[in-house]
Parts: sequence; C-alpha cells; structure tokens
Amino acid sequence: MTEFGEWIEKLLAAVDIVTVIGRYIPLARKGRTWWGACPFHHEKTPSFAVNENEQFYHCFGCGESGNAITFIAKYESVERIDAIRMLAEEARMEMPKLQGTDADAARTAKLKSQKDTVIKANLEAARFYHRALMTRENAGYKYLTGRGIGDDIIIKFGLGYSPDYNGLISHMKRSGFTVEDMKLAGLADTNSGGKDYDVFGGRVMVPIINVMGEVVGFGGRVLEKTDFAKYRNTANTVVFDKSKTLYAANLLKKVKQEQGIDYLILCEGYMDVISLVKAGFKTAVASMGTSLTVEQAKLIKRFSESVYISYDGDSAGKKATLRGLDILEDAGLTVRVITLPEGLDPDDVVNKQGYDAYKRLIDTALPLIEFKLKAAESENDLGTSEGRHKFATAALEIIAKLPTAVMQEEYINKIRQKTRYSFENMKAQLAAVSGADADGVERALAEVPQANAVEKAVSFLLSAYISGSGCEDAEVLEGFLEDGLKRELYDYKRAHPGANFAGILEAFPEEAHARIGLLADTGFDEKGADYARGCVRLLKREALIKENMALSEEYANSTDPAARGNKNILRRIADNNTEIQRLK
Ligand code: GTP
Ligand code: MN
Repeated sequence: MTEFGEWIEKLLAAVDIVTVIGRYIPLARKGRTWWGACPFHHEKTPSFAVNENEQFYHCFGCGESGNAITFIAKYESVERIDAIRMLAEEARMEMPKLQGTDADAARTAKLKSQKDTVIKANLEAARFYHRALMTRENAGYKYLTGRGIGDDIIIKFGLGYSPDYNGLISHMKRSGFTVEDMKLAGLADTNSGGKDYDVFGGRVMVPIINVMGEVVGFGGRVLEKTDFAKYRNTANTVVFDKSKTLYAANLLKKVKQEQGIDYLILCEGYMDVISLVKAGFKTAVASMGTSLTVEQAKLIKRFSESVYISYDGDSAGKKATLRGLDILEDAGLTVRVITLPEGLDPDDVVNKQGYDAYKRLIDTALPLIEFKLKAAESENDLGTSEGRHKFATAALEIIAKLPTAVMQEEYINKIRQKTRYSFENMKAQLAAVSGADADGVERALAEVPQANAVEKAVSFLLSAYISGSGCEDAEVLEGFLEDGLKRELYDYKRAHPGANFAGILEAFPEEAHARIGLLADTGFDEKGADYARGCVRLLKREALIKENMALSEEYANSTDPAARGNKNILRRIADNNTEIQRLK
C-alpha cells in the first residue's frame, strides 16, 4: 500500500461515518445498522443503510455505496481529494505532502492546473467579449437594446458579444493562451480546413459565473432566427457541467446579505433571469435547459428554503417537468409553481405586462401538489366516468406522497367533490397505492438478487468474512468463487486479515463499490452468526455432492473392469453420503 493509502486508512479510522452522514441526513438506529432516506435517489421510505462497525454505507434502493470519503464527494459534489481534505480537517489530521510519484496525486495536480487555466481563459474571454459589446457600434449591442437591455444590465451580468470567428483567438494568443487552452475551455475549435475559430462567433455572450465568482462557461445567443441552435452553451469542461450549475447564482450572495431571500425564482432561460432581475425580482436563477439535478436542488437550498418555479407557459413537456420538480421537494424545499399565460415566458410577462402582473402570478402560485392535481384534472375529461376514474387514480398517486394522513384526507375530500367517488373507496385505493411504498425497505431488500441458496450462502459468508464479522470456516468458500470480484475480495482479505470494510472499499475501484456494497453485511448479530454456521454446512454439503457427482461419473465411465470394481471409489461415495447426511 502507498504511503498515502495508509494515511487514508488512518483518516477513515479517525472519523465516524454515522456522525459524518448524520449531519446531512437523519439516521435512525435499528440494531447495529443506521437507516435513513437515501440522498442519492428519491425515496420516502429509508433503504439507505449505514454500518457503524464497518464504516460504510449502502443503499438497497439505488445501489450506491461507499465510505465516508465517497459520501462527502458525492453529496457535496466535490472532488475526491476535496472530500478527503474536508474529512482531514474534521479529524484534525494534516494532509500528507503529495509527491509526484503518487499517480493519484499527479492526476489531481494536473486537473487542478487545468481548472486554473480554464478559469483564467474564461475570464479573459469574458472581458474580451464584454469590451467588444461595449463599443456599442455592433449588432450585439443593437440586439440587446432592442430587447430593452441597457448598459446597467449589460454590466451587471457581464454580457458580451463575439463579433467574428477570429477576434477572440488572436486576442487570447496575445494574452498568453494557447489554442489548446482555448479548446480545454470550450471556446475554440479547429475547422476542416485546419483553421482555429471561436465557437461562439457572431453571438451575444452570457457568461455563466459560479458562486465563487468564477466564469465557468458561456451561453451564446444568435441574433437572428437561423438554422443554428438559438443558444450554444459551453460543452462540459473540467470546470463546467450545466446540469450542476444555476445561472445567476453568483448574484444571490449579495442579495442574501443585503436584504435576505424569501424565495428563489427558478426559470428556464438566461433572458428570463436577466429580465426578471431588471424588473426587480432579484432572486431569479435559471437551469439551462436540462432537467433538474440533486446538485441544483442543493444549490438552491443554500440560499432559500422556498422556490417558485417559473417555467415557460407551454403545456408541452409539462408532465416531465412536474416529475422533475420532486427533486426539489425531496431536497426539503417548499416548491410553488407559477402558472404563466400560454405561450409566454417570464421575460415576456415582465416586459409586456410589467412588474405587478408578474408579482400577481407569484402571489397566486400553487403548491407543487396542487399544481400537479390541477394538471391531472386538466388532462382528463371529468364529464365521463372513464375520465373521472383516470383522474382519481392519478390524483391518489399524487396524494399518497403527502406526509400525513390528515393532509391526505383533506385532498381526498377535494377529489371526491370532483369525482363523486365514495370516501371509503378512495381510502381503500389510497391504501393500495401507498401500501406499495410502506414496506420499501423490505421490498428493496427482497430485490437484492439472490439466485439460489448456494449463491446466497456464498455472498453471506464472503460478506461476513471480508467485513470481519467472524467467519471461522471461510476456506469453504474457496471452491465457490468463480466470479472475478468475489474471488478478488476473498484474496484481498486473506492477504490483509486486518482490513475492515471501509479499507477494502478503498482498495477497489469505485465502479466496483456498488457490487461490493450488495455483499455488505448490514446487520450481523447473534442470529447472523447462527446463519453463517448454517451457510458453512450448506456449502460443505454442496462441495461433497459435487465431489460425489464427479466420482459417480468417473465410476460409470470407467471401461477398465478392474477400476470398475474399484471399491475405493464406491467407499468414498458412501463416506461422502454419510457426511452429507450428517451436515443436513
Ligand atoms: P430567448 O429566446 O433569448 O428569450 O431565450 P430564453 O431565455 O427565453 O431561453 P429559452 O426558454 O428559449 O431556453 C431556455 C434555455 O435552454 C436557454 O437559456 C438555454 O440554456 C437553453 N437553450 C435554448 N435553446 C437552445 C438551443 O438551441 N441549444 C442549446 N444547447 N440550448 C438551448
Ligand atoms: Mn425568452
């Protein structure tokens, strides 16, 4: 093991995973395992298990598993090395100096330097675009003026313009950046003729700035309707992933400090945000045309507990949109949905109808659940019995997600008024719908694939063995480990008898963690020890049965009469049979 590897083991031993994870999500103890709702997929019933003894977690719902480091890296959306840094700080352990010889460290160092380069290149490009726009004698400035955007807003958002395909390239070269740097930042490309060009040429430029104030990417808008995509966004780079970013989140810090934030307004487009902020709605942000992610939900929550959804007022894709919003509620946000007039986006509303009109839409926004119910209602014709039935079924599925029976009852009554179904029938159906969810843990557990008793026994014993829960006859596994990963785990534990589960996870690549997690023993107690003994007997028996099958075959296939009469084979078979009976 490398020196760094050993240090990581010490670090993992110094922190407690239950404390670490418990700070992010509520955990409840059941036996030796702590359970909670998995933060990595969306569920109401806990199937996320944290094992205190072995210092790892595993979700039986989505298969995520790992140790304290992987948890922080995933939850905080930070690099592994940063997660290690955070844990080290907590454990008051000093990070070892990373030497160039350590491949991991070298990779991290390279990534860090790439990130620095891209951030610097983006900033220089943003300045170049902004200066180009501010000459005012250009099509970009004219376009923005036409949309009612003046110098103050241009400056506030750092808007820019890329006048042509070469200007940026030569400017960047003069400023010390290579074409490679520009490509790394997603700013430049090389055409089929071998010429490097600005991929945003001819577009109005919207810099995307993260909460640290760094320019991480750009959105570029064409000025006229053309066949080109209306917007071009920076492709994923070492510093940019649009699904993890919220446009204009950089402006929130100041608003929060100066006047506090009651709620965020979540829109779809750059121009929506710009127009809303211009009109006085200072807490508008935008996802950039992708479906919402957990990372974005967390970013929102850093600024407010409450969010108003202000998506375009077209019904296309409404259903998918609504489903995506569960992510926000699951993150603990209060979600309300603004209903915009058909065909208009927030930018249109504030520009055509003014501040008050949009404020009214905010004030009349519906809680997510009511918005969903309304959508379900408008999709069905309540004048027909089929329509009423479909609506009631859809509505009950929505209601089933409500946290309390009292809240459920309130909505059941509302649906009853619209469908005239009896209260009893509605309750019965609701129970059927929510009952499917109540035993989520058991169901998830049952879904863990266990082809047959032997495989189950192998998995259980292996887990008991590698997680150090005590397994006396682990050698019995030797004959049953065909699968590559199981064999590797077994061999690793043989070579490192002292390794605990967290340490073993460290030694295996992250792709394997979910599968290793399935093997994880999440509740090895007295019953478990008993069960382990049963498994050992089963496998021993299985091995003898296999051996007898081979012996019988050998006996039957033997053409040599002397061998056929070989009492030895028969005696061995008989002995084995006695032992098999004894092991039953
Ligand atoms: P305007 O037409 O300028 O008012 O745009 P908008 O701000 O109203 O944005 P719109 O609602 O049309 O689109 C929402 C977001 O989706 C934009 O901010 C972009 O991030 C993204 N988007 C829109 N059109 C395209 C496109 O053609 N290609 C790509 N890649 N993204 C787009
Ligand atoms: Mn628009």
